[in-house]
Amino acid sequence: MHTILALDQGTTSSRAILFDRQGRVLATAQQEYPQHFPQPGWVEHDARDIWTTQLACARRVLAESGVDAAQVAAIGIANQRETTLVWDRRSGAPLTRAIVWQDRRTAETCDALRAAGKADLIGRKTGLELDAYFSATKLQWILDHVPDARRRAERGELAFGTVDSWLVYRLCGRHVTDVSNASRTMLFDIHTLGWDRELLDLFGVPAALLPEIVPSAGVVGHTHDALFGRAIPIAGIAGDQQAATFGQACHRQGMVKNTYGTGCFMLMHAGDEAPRSRHRLLATVGWNVGGRTDYLLEGSVFMGGATVQWLRDGLGIIERSGDVEALALSVPDNGGVMLVPAFVGLGAPHWDPYARGTIVGMTRGTTAAHIARAALEAIAYQSAELLAAMQKDAACAVHEVRADGGAANNDLLMQFQADLLGVPVVRPRVTETTALGAAYLAGLAVGFWQSVAEIEAQWQVARRFAPQRSAAWREETMARWVRAVAHARAWAQP
Ligand code: G3P
Repeated sequence: MHTILALDQGTTSSRAILFDRQGRVLATAQQEYPQHFPQPGWVEHDARDIWTTQLACARRVLAESGVDAAQVAAIGIANQRETTLVWDRRSGAPLTRAIVWQDRRTAETCDALRAAGKADLIGRKTGLELDAYFSATKLQWILDHVPDARRRAERGELAFGTVDSWLVYRLCGRHVTDVSNASRTMLFDIHTLGWDRELLDLFGVPAALLPEIVPSAGVVGHTHDALFGRAIPIAGIAGDQQAATFGQACHRQGMVKNTYGTGCFMLMHAGDEAPRSRHRLLATVGWNVGGRTDYLLEGSVFMGGATVQWLRDGLGIIERSGDVEALALSVPDNGGVMLVPAFVGLGAPHWDPYARGTIVGMTRGTTAAHIARAALEAIAYQSAELLAAMQKDAACAVHEVRADGGAANNDLLMQFQADLLGVPVVRPRVTETTALGAAYLAGLAVGFWQSVAEIEAQWQVARRFAPQRSAAWREETMARWVRAVAHARAWAQP
């Protein structure tokens, strides 16, 4: 057995990656699948698309690389988190489309819960902000709106799960979720590591719907023979951002990774006790391996790489996302322009759903290149706000930020990020860290790798961006950003 198969089920595509014992990518398969936007602010996926594209990628990566299923030691799963699915336990048929983490339809439910004074209770138990982002209000919505759903749920006929549960159910028939995914549902107590009765009552969720909670590393079942011609153990499960943190080998307190994808997700290792953020970050379970639970602090930026997509699709000033660096570099600086990409509100540490996209500082000399530069810089500014909040929460020095995701390949962005943070930004050799993290979890469970120390030693630097600006510059520049954010937040207050 010489490989681990990682399934990386993301928001816009399913991927399957084979890794060797050195943690190197052997082969990759990827497939996009349809997004559904039935109403403004709503985002849905067809659960069947999630499953069929994920299965197709897994089969394709094996077929194209000539690797027989018998050579696969285990499967690890990393998945888009919070996205909420309900299916029929007997037939396996999805009850309705999955409600995706980006979906805002339950924002008013959250406002009402906040007005009823529930935010503190939720924060204390779950480590989360009371926001439509998480699964609980999405599940509540399904139970309240799909005919007969609540009655059937109470009779134990239905199953709820996040994407990990759905995939495991299809792969081997078990109904489970790992602790990292459970910690994003808003129904789970991150201190006791169990479903919470009080929260289930608050959201009106019958316990009969819930999956069994399992560790992130451990064999939960074997794939049905018919899927790959041979049963493969499913041995690792984690939410994609937790998996990426594991894949970036952030195993010690204070280590930080930032993923530059559609959004940006910055996570800091916070030790083996649940932290409580005082600066509006999320406390979340990282993983549970070998009986130990590691916790993380997390901040998310909603518009990261999506800001560059907007330059391409909304403004039409670049043809391909990759063109942004050249356009931004065609001017020496942003010419005084700042862009706050609050197109869907602002995430951590502001959590302001009403903020809107804003450009400030334009003059007659402003060109598309300045806007492009400001858009790239905005990704770094937002991430810098997250790190500042983390440093205050954690009260420990951060020595570097490990970067991954598509935009981590943009040198201009990485250098500006390091300048703003005042700590080096490091790009690793293997940037498929999400899938790698899932592979590591599975590989540890089946003895493919022996210890966390062994996989930690595999992590290697590809390029280190050292800060090149003074502390005074950082302070002045961040102060200007704070003023720009204030404009974006003041614009559309209800
Ligand atoms: O919390 C949402 C996150 O898990 C989505 O990640 O990579 O699918 O955009 P991604």
